[in-house]
Amino acid sequence: MKKLQDKVALVTGASRGIGRAIAIKLAAAGAKVAVNYARSEKEALEVVAEIEAAGGVAMAIKASVGSSDEVKAMFEAVEKTLGVPDILVNNAGITKDNLLIRMNDDDFDAVIDTNLNGAFYCMRAAAKGMMKKRYGKIINISSVVGFSGNAGQVNYVASKAGLHGMTKTVAAEMGGRGIRVNSVAPGFIKSEMTDSLSDDIKNGILNQTLLKSLGTVDDIAAAVYFLASPDSDYVTGQVLHVNGGMYL
Ligand SMILES: NC(=O)c1ccc[n+]([C@@H]2O[C@H](COP(=O)([O-])OP(=O)(O)OC[C@H]3O[C@@H](n4cnc5c(N)ncnc54)[C@H](OP(=O)(O)O)[C@@H]3O)[C@@H](O)[C@H]2O)c1
Repeated sequence: MKKLQDKVALVTGASRGIGRAIAIKLAAAGAKVAVNYARSEKEALEVVAEIEAAGGVAMAIKASVGSSDEVKAMFEAVEKTLGVPDILVNNAGITKDNLLIRMNDDDFDAVIDTNLNGAFYCMRAAAKGMMKKRYGKIINISSVVGFSGNAGQVNYVASKAGLHGMTKTVAAEMGGRGIRVNSVAPGFIKSEMTDSLSDDIKNGILNQTLLKSLGTVDDIAAAVYFLASPDSDYVTGQVLHVNGGMYL
């Protein structure tokens, strides 16, 4: 039997990049997967089609995770169609980089809304059903920069550092109910988010990465799969760093 057979998983921001790889990996392990997106409907439907073509079960669900109301409606729709989620992956994330003195309020707030408030709304919504089941797996996709800091990303780093604090706190609140809460902190992963960086920046990051290579979306999906599976049932409140030795 597959390790996630009949489990229901909701992956936010699953229309491309890391979220897409996670959705496909969890579905291949037997989970029924809700593929969340905010704008990229066509891409989300393609992820669903790919999962179905491989014999899996999936649905696409539109919601901007930064909206409490949309998150509530998303959970209602997923519960009606696939069932109460056993696994929540808070992956949706954006960047709006600038140096502190040039960072405007809107760009600061937009990143906090999506990356931090979004994870809060989703964890709160997921916890209700998971508490009734007395089982659940929540995996927050944070970032190496949430530990190291990074010039030009005061909004993004604040959101990711906040995510680490929320991970530990929700793990503490939910452990007695059988709900495990962990985060995966990727290093430099090749995706649309990082494609726009200059070669100079990419080479600088490669130089400080012990394994001298960029990570792939599949490296992150494998870590998420471990934390979603029963193999990690005695792991909670932790951060799994997947960064090729970029930060120790
Ligand atoms: N790539 C890296 O090197 C790296 C490193 C560390 C951490 N991470 C983290 O990993 C996660 C995924 O990154 P990625 O590189 O795969 O990014 P990406 O390629 O830019 O994809 C981001 C995904 O998030 C979705 N999204 C954006 N805003 C949303 C919202 N308000 N509500 C719901 N979905 C939303 C996008 O869908 P729509 O187009 O539909 O909005 C898209 O599916 C992020 O949390 C990021 O911070 C990435």
